[in-house]
Amino acid sequence: NTLRILAISGSLREKSSNTALMKAIIALSSGDIQFTIYGGLGDLPHFNPDLDLDDGPSSVQELRLQLKEAEGVLICTPEYGNGVPGVLKNALDWLVSSGEFMNKPTAVISASPTPMGGDKAHASLLLTLNMINAEIIEGGTMMIPHITLKLNKEGVITDSETKQRLLAVLKALEKACL
Ligand code: FNR
Repeated sequence: NTLRILAISGSLREKSSNTALMKAIIALSSGDIQFTIYGGLGDLPHFNPDLDLDDGPSSVQELRLQLKEAEGVLICTPEYGNGVPGVLKNALDWLVSSGEFMNKPTAVISASPTPMGGDKAHASLLLTLNMINAEIIEGGTMMIPHITLKLNKEGVITDSETKQRLLAVLKALEKACL
């Protein structure tokens, strides 16, 4: 059986290192996993419980459906202003009441050009994911400092240790989804 993983990048930037990293991870994976890249982060309305009537706005319904249909989730995110990018937090805010993350195996990766690897965004993201009862899988979290030295312009991971660690994260995610 093919596993379905929803992959979410926390960056809207055209040349995002996190989006490139996410795609590189997908390229590393075996054929047993079918990844869907969530592309709607920038189109979600600002979270407002007043709008969350009936099934909510259509873009939110689509996000919830894509999550429901996925056995697991992969998040790759940058850090902005020592925190989770607003667009990613906004998406998670829409998912607090609807519960699609409940027990959903989730791998969390942050990448940054700084030596810190996006540690504050990473920690803050875990707080939110824990609140919505996502299953943060053992061996499924990773912070990548100096991302610009580890991923080339073509989006290929050039650092072998990073590659090995990412393969281990993928393995852990796959195992948790079975
Ligand atoms: C940043 N960046 C950044 N990096 C970090 O590690 N911690 C931070 O708090 C911030 N804050 C921040 C604010 C603003 C306004 C910008 C423009 C940038 C740097 C950030 O990690 C870098 O731009 C990454 O390349 C962003 O990720 P993507 O878009 O490449 O995935």
